[in-house]
Amino acid sequence: MPSLDDYVDREQAYVKHVFLERYLEALFHKTGNAYNHIVYVDGFAGPWQSADENFEDTSFVIALCALRKSKATLQAQRGRNVRMTALLVEKRQTSHAQLLTLQPRFQDVEIKAYHGGFIETVPALLQAIPRNAFAFFLIDPKGWGIPVEKLRPLLSYPKSEVLFNFMFDFINRAAGMQDKEARSGQSELFESFYEMTPDDMSRKLADEKKRAAELVLNLSPRAPDSIPYKTLWARVLAKHAVRKPDVNKICADMRRSGELVFPNWESDTRKRVPDDHDRVQRP
Ligand SMILES: C[S@@+](CC[C@H](N)C(=O)[O-])C[C@H]1O[C@@H](n2cnc3c(N)ncnc32)[C@H](O)[C@@H]1O
Repeated sequence: MPSLDDYVDREQAYVKHVFLERYLEALFHKTGNAYNHIVYVDGFAGPWQSADENFEDTSFVIALCALRKSKATLQAQRGRNVRMTALLVEKRQTSHAQLLTLQPRFQDVEIKAYHGGFIETVPALLQAIPRNAFAFFLIDPKGWGIPVEKLRPLLSYPKSEVLFNFMFDFINRAAGMQDKEARSGQSELFESFYEMTPDDMSRKLADEKKRAAELVLNLSPRAPDSIPYKTLWARVLAKHAVRKPDVNKICADMRRSGELVFPNWESDTRKRVPDDHDRVQRP
């Protein structure tokens, strides 16, 4: 699991990476039973704000480790020799140069690093992905400006999955705009979001908070066992459209109502919400 210490002031990236690690390992292992070739495509690879010299806190190293692990397990358990490929696209020259250093560390995965814009690289990616391979696309731009129409050839690839990652606040703000043009042409991707009335949106967000609260309780073991708070909130954020302050408040309310106990918090009477050093349990 990535270390939270590498994610100061970018906790949302931690949540994304915890989710990616779990999801990709399971996905590659499952699809590796049916396909002889798996291709991972990182459209906006980075590294971006990485604090680890080996890039353990980046999507591409998390994906490369998942490819490697699945390849070894499929070979050991099923006798299957599955070919693993990673196609990494990055526009910034210094980041691209860092991608070029990866191959010696991951000799069991074929790595190709493209220097350029993701959209402009689509034709080369299509050529590099064999029709009989299973492809996974991670589309993780900094903002949320993606001309989806131009991605159609990739998104309609028959044996594939696509994961978009956008900052919730960007989408939320854009969904509130009246003028379609002001939303900078992102309509297709978020059409269903735009069609929500403010009431629909509030209901959806309230429902997410309710389900996040249920998950908090499900993930918290009964005393004397406990779970680190930093693991708890990361798992909740990876599953529901809530922010860390929402989880803080849910937990503080549950502490007051006696549904949760934070053993180290009890000695600090000034604290209003839990912090990452706390542990959590149900009584
Ligand atoms: C949010 S960061 C990606 C983080 C990475 N996926 C991770 O989780 O570790 C976005 C990256 O996309 C790069 N970038 C920006 N515009 C791009 C474009 N049009 N095509 C490809 N890469 C781009 C930026 O330089 C930056 O490294």
